[in-house]
Amino acid sequence: MADSTHHDLLFRNALLLDGTGGLPMTGDLAVSSGRIAAMGDLSGETAEETVDATGLALAPGFIDVHTHDDRAVLAGPDMTNKVSQGVTTVVAGNCGVSLAPYDSPKAPPPPMNLLGSPSDYAYPTADRYFQAFEARPAAVNVALLVGHTTLRACAMDALDRAATADEINDMGSRLDAALKAGCIGLSSGLDYPPAVAAPTEEVIALASRAAPFGALYTTHMRNEGDEVLEAIEETVRTGRAAGLRTVISHHKCAGKRNHGRSRETLARIAEAQKTMTLDLDVYPYIASSTVLIPRFLDRDPDRVLVTWSDSHPEMSGRDLAEIAAEWGLPEAEAAEKLAPAGAIYFQMADDDLERIMTYPGAMIGSDGLPHDRHPHPRLWGTFPRVLGRYVRDRKLMSLAEAVHRMTGKSAEVFGFAERGLLRQGFIADLVLFDPETVVDKADFATPAEPAEGIQQVLVGGTAVWRDQATTGARPGHVLRRGQPN
Ligand code: ZN
Ligand code: CU
Repeated sequence: MADSTHHDLLFRNALLLDGTGGLPMTGDLAVSSGRIAAMGDLSGETAEETVDATGLALAPGFIDVHTHDDRAVLAGPDMTNKVSQGVTTVVAGNCGVSLAPYDSPKAPPPPMNLLGSPSDYAYPTADRYFQAFEARPAAVNVALLVGHTTLRACAMDALDRAATADEINDMGSRLDAALKAGCIGLSSGLDYPPAVAAPTEEVIALASRAAPFGALYTTHMRNEGDEVLEAIEETVRTGRAAGLRTVISHHKCAGKRNHGRSRETLARIAEAQKTMTLDLDVYPYIASSTVLIPRFLDRDPDRVLVTWSDSHPEMSGRDLAEIAAEWGLPEAEAAEKLAPAGAIYFQMADDDLERIMTYPGAMIGSDGLPHDRHPHPRLWGTFPRVLGRYVRDRKLMSLAEAVHRMTGKSAEVFGFAERGLLRQGFIADLVLFDPETVVDKADFATPAEPAEGIQQVLVGGTAVWRDQATTGARPGHVLRRGQPN
């Protein structure tokens, strides 16, 4: 019997962080049929299950806006590394590389190998990818961006040049089809070899095709080091010319020469925001991680840690300097010998990181690489690290503000209806955590450690994480552009 005062689940006496960034309040929250049924003082109401949440915080489930989970949501659908952090939705297809749509007989070039081997690229259309997810859903929801590099690899026979008009058209029709299937936008990775030769005009042409869909454009910019300001100019020009919402991915100032330059970059971003919709995401670490290629050593990183190597798998988790010394080779040559490989680059400054993290509206995204043998700890630690180390310990911002950057703000930018806020009628993607103890446990030596303090995680009202373990439930949905679900 439907009874508006008897619910499926009732959290009593929680600190309610509603995702808007506004002041938290203490109260109850009820869940029924997968949605938030009521909030406030529900002392007269009952439920099948009641949780005493005294001393705990209840927030909308965290939205990981920057992931490379395209294959992870299909291959390891418990998504322990994400649900253990309180994440309930992941945005895949970032940095120009998406697992779908890919329909070329050629092996996808690096960095597409970050997502899997050639045989994993088995989804010629976004529709097919979504069908695969829906046939065997993950614990978390997924939304997909269409990668510009993936489109190039399908439409072009050589990637070291600009696309011709015909090739742009070919990429454009693939992009149209993917957006029609429900992809939420276009991503680029202009710093990576297969897209370096793409002129701004090529990206503008594609972004312009995405704009009428109400889609967004996210970019791993052409440069995050010496030419980071020029790269922001290009991003601004692209977003303006195409007329669509734009997101700078994992904003950073890499390389010692560029430490402190977030003052300039954020000032430039603030200026652009007066006349366009521009946002950014950031992960809470001073080390980046991607493929290991000699060019990325030019920024003179303090330390390079190998995360995987196809030719020398035994070197995963070791320092490049140590390997190079052992082999009697310069680091660049050792890097070539390890290829194809991945690495962590220690090359950012703490004050830049803190300035970017506290920049108004900066969203949190992990950029975790789920298939690396010895991954960057951001894969397991990003969200609890912000809440524990940066909010509780360093008082960088209020808890409500940090949660906003993981929930309400992210849902607004990426267009997820009825998620990201605690609101009556919204879908019950929720995280219950202990603000006094929440903290990341993954570090560079032992990167695959679940965080502490995340007590319960619900996706659409179904528990996916409880008592420091996954529940086995896989209630995730595909979040298609413009569709509430
Ligand atoms: Zn990237
Ligand atoms: Cu990325």
